[in-house]
Amino acid sequence: MDFTGKVALITGGTRGIGLAVGRMLAEGGADLILNYKSDAGNAEEIARELRDATSRRVEAIPADMRRPEQIKAMFERIRKEWDRLDYIVPNAAFGTMGRTERMGIMSWDATYEINVRSVMICAKEAAPLLRASRGAICAISSIGARVAFQEYAAIGSSKAALESLVRYLANELTPDGVAVNAVAAGPVDTRVINWFRNPEAVHRFARLHSTVGRIGTVQDVARVVVFLLSDEARWIVGQTITADGGVTLGVNFEDWLRKTGNDPDHPQEP
Ligand SMILES: NC(=O)c1ccc[n+]([C@@H]2O[C@H](COP(=O)([O-])OP(=O)(O)OC[C@H]3O[C@@H](n4cnc5c(N)ncnc54)[C@H](OP(=O)(O)O)[C@@H]3O)[C@@H](O)[C@H]2O)c1
Repeated sequence: MDFTGKVALITGGTRGIGLAVGRMLAEGGADLILNYKSDAGNAEEIARELRDATSRRVEAIPADMRRPEQIKAMFERIRKEWDRLDYIVPNAAFGTMGRTERMGIMSWDATYEINVRSVMICAKEAAPLLRASRGAICAISSIGARVAFQEYAAIGSSKAALESLVRYLANELTPDGVAVNAVAAGPVDTRVINWFRNPEAVHRFARLHSTVGRIGTVQDVARVVVFLLSDEARWIVGQTITADGGVTLGVNFEDWLRKTGNDPDHPQEP
């Protein structure tokens, strides 16, 4: 896909899925604004590496997505120094794992502030630029928005709110030529897996329950995001597309048969 002349902002864009999206967009010709929270050394190194590899304009801009004033300052800088924005990928996320009855109110609030409120602020700040470029937004959600995983209530419910926000933003912005969609990812091999009490169990879960038989890669998700940003996807409006290797299709039937003492290779006639 050709993104020559486009400018993309990716929140939390200096590692994981966000970085994979940025890499694909830059390889397709886009210039990049990579937002990060605090690790300036890593962010500057990533920006330099992408500039060298793609010859695109790539800039890392710090802003904590929990702080509205920092988000506004980032957009002030984008308006002043870039004066153009075609795509935003709200990807930055935070999550406190734990059962709801033990969840601290501050942790719950932080999860919603970063995963939902920051997306509203970004969309609000970006809207005039996106209208001018007839651009696109593609947010990153999680399959935990629609199924209930253990100890995932804060993140899962915040992502459900994000998916709803995506529908409302699409309703408001699509008539002005701005596409808004999301991708709900299944388990992907990034450092987020370490938020779980037992990271190896997440890998096992993915191997067992993905019909593809493996955990996702950052590229598995990034490819869908990049398509949803492209002009080719303009008939998709306000949707959340699942990219989870089949994890939410249902139980792994063969595994279930084995666990119940049946041999899936030699089924018995009833
Ligand atoms: N990996 C999975 O299994 C999985 C599954 C479903 C959905 N997702 C979603 O995929 C997205 C990317 O996650 P990932 O797996 O790629 O994890 P990751 O590598 O940890 O990336 C998360 C990014 O979010 C940024 N971030 C966190 N808090 C921030 C804040 N307050 N302000 C600005 N940036 C902040 C981080 O920036 P710093 O490095 O600067 O802190 C980091 O770049 C998230 O929306 C996540 O919910 C992931």
